[in-house]
This record gives sequence, C-alpha cells and structure tokens, in this order.
Amino acid sequence: MGIALVTGASSGIGKELARLFARDGHGVVLVARRRERLDELARELESKHGVKAWPIACDLAATDGVERLVGDIGSLGLGVDYLVNNAGVGTTGAFAESNPAAEVAMAELNVTAVVRLTRAFLPAMLARGQGRVLNVGSTAGFQPGPYMATYYASKAFVNHFSEALAYELRGSGVTVTLYCPGPTQTEFGDVSGVGQSKLFRLQVATAESVALAAYRALMAGRVLAVHGFLNRVGVALLRVSPRAWVRAVVASLNRPAAHGSGR
Ligand SMILES: NC(=O)c1ccc[n+]([C@@H]2O[C@H](COP(=O)([O-])OP(=O)(O)OC[C@H]3O[C@@H](n4cnc5c(N)ncnc54)[C@H](OP(=O)(O)O)[C@@H]3O)[C@@H](O)[C@H]2O)c1
Repeated sequence: MGIALVTGASSGIGKELARLFARDGHGVVLVARRRERLDELARELESKHGVKAWPIACDLAATDGVERLVGDIGSLGLGVDYLVNNAGVGTTGAFAESNPAAEVAMAELNVTAVVRLTRAFLPAMLARGQGRVLNVGSTAGFQPGPYMATYYASKAFVNHFSEALAYELRGSGVTVTLYCPGPTQTEFGDVSGVGQSKLFRLQVATAESVALAAYRALMAGRVLAVHGFLNRVGVALLRVSPRAWVRAVVASLNRPAAHGSGR
C-alpha cells in the first residue's frame, strides 16, 4: 500500500478522493487550509479503514506554502506514491472589475502550486520507477471563458501541462492522469459564484461520482479522461466549432446577471 497526498481534501472532489484511497488501504496526507475539517476527515478514515492519515493545514497559494508542505512531509519521513493536485478555486465576473488579489491567488493555487508540487515529488517517483500523479483539470480548460477568464485559463494550463508531462514520462513507470470534470456539486459553485450561472443549471455531477471516475482513471494510468457523456460530447464539439461562436456561448453561460441577458 502507498501514500497518497491529496490537496483540497477538506471538501468536494478532494475529500471523496481521499476516502477512496483510504478505502483501498492507502495512507493519506490531507492538505487544505481548514484544519478542523482535515482533522475530522483524518479521524473518519483512520477509524473506518484502519489507515494512517496525516492532516496538514497549508495555504498552497502562499509564496512559501508548497515549500513548507514539502518540508513537513519530509519531516514525517513520508514518500509520496500518489500525488493528487486537486485544490482549486474560481472567480466569476468581468476581469477588469475583479479583485486583483483574488485573481493572483487563484493563479498561484491553480497553476503555480501544481507546478511546484509536481516538480517536488516527481524525482523521487522516477528514482523508484513508479508513481502516479492525478491532476484535476476541467472541461473549462478546453476553451476561453469570458467572465471566468483567469479560471478557464488556469485550467487550460493544468490540462496542457498534464498531457505534456504524461508524454514525457511514458515508459518511466510514473503516470500522469488529467481528469476533467464539468459542473460538479461541491462548494466550488458558491466559492466561485458560478453556482448561479446557466452552466450549473444544465447538469451537475456529484462529487462522489467524479472522484470515483477520476480514481479509476488514475489507477488505470489513463492520460486524459473527461467526466460524463454530455461533457465528452461538449469537448468534442469544441474542437470543430468556430472560436468566435465558442467565446460567445461560454460568455452567455458564465455571465453574471448584472452583465445582461447573455444574448
Ligand atoms: N465543482 C466543479 O464544478 C468543478 C468543475 C471542474 C473542475 N473542478 C475542479 O475540481 C477541483 C476541486 O474542486 P471542488 O469542486 O471539489 O471544490 P471545493 O469543494 O470548493 O474544494 C476546493 C478545495 O480546495 C481547497 N483550497 C482552496 N484554496 C486553497 C488554498 N489556498 N490552499 C490549499 N487548499 C485550498 C479547499 O479547502 P480550504 O478552503 O479548506 O483550503 C477545498 O478543499 C478544483 O481544482 C476545481 O477547479 C471543479
């Protein structure tokens, strides 16, 4: 059995992923900012599955967040067999009117922390000749997203970074899996503000179903998987649709009420 490091384990998809690793007997390092939630989950997983769980409260958007986390894991003497880059946030609204600090913090968490964590744990995985990385991207990463511009762009980074890395690592014994959920019922809708958008009224998956499919894709060593049939159809349509039309449709789906009807 291995050790899985799961970021964003205090809620939503990350919490369900941590439960799946523990169910299968893996030790879990649980990372997020809300310590009490991590402590509670650690108690649940240890008592229910008899595994060891290490809750580590950490702000991954802070400049030294990842460095401190890597140091903590080193002090615990843990090797990471499964790295799950799941923590992510979004914001909604016109970029020019956005909170600049929130936009930068999002980029730090969704992009920079993924790069830092992957770069930190990959060499040891390669030295062992085994390891698995799961990056939670998004269907948002396959197109530009007006009114969620930074978020969509951050997920485009995760999507492309993951696929490229998977190619570089082929034959090494280390796999990288990109899992792309579409709208999913978690705290993300409220935190980002997108929960009230037309997009989230179309269809919403459960965190449990997304986590299970992502976990299976990871364990199967798949490079890329998109959650759900309708999302897969949507991503396929994007590839053949005029870009101007794509921009307009996504704007209409994301546009907050204050910005008009979306037509
Ligand atoms: N829900 C969707 O519709 C959807 C769709 C596509 C992709 N995704 C992606 O799925 C992933 C998981 O999101 P979710 O839907 O499960 O949302 P969620 O319920 O809001 O969970 C987000 C997790 O990230 C953690 N987090 C946020 N800021 C952090 C920070 N600065 N440092 C460390 N941890 C931080 C949160 O914990 P704390 O607040 O305790 O720090 C929480 O555990 C994200 O990457 C998201 O982009 C979600």
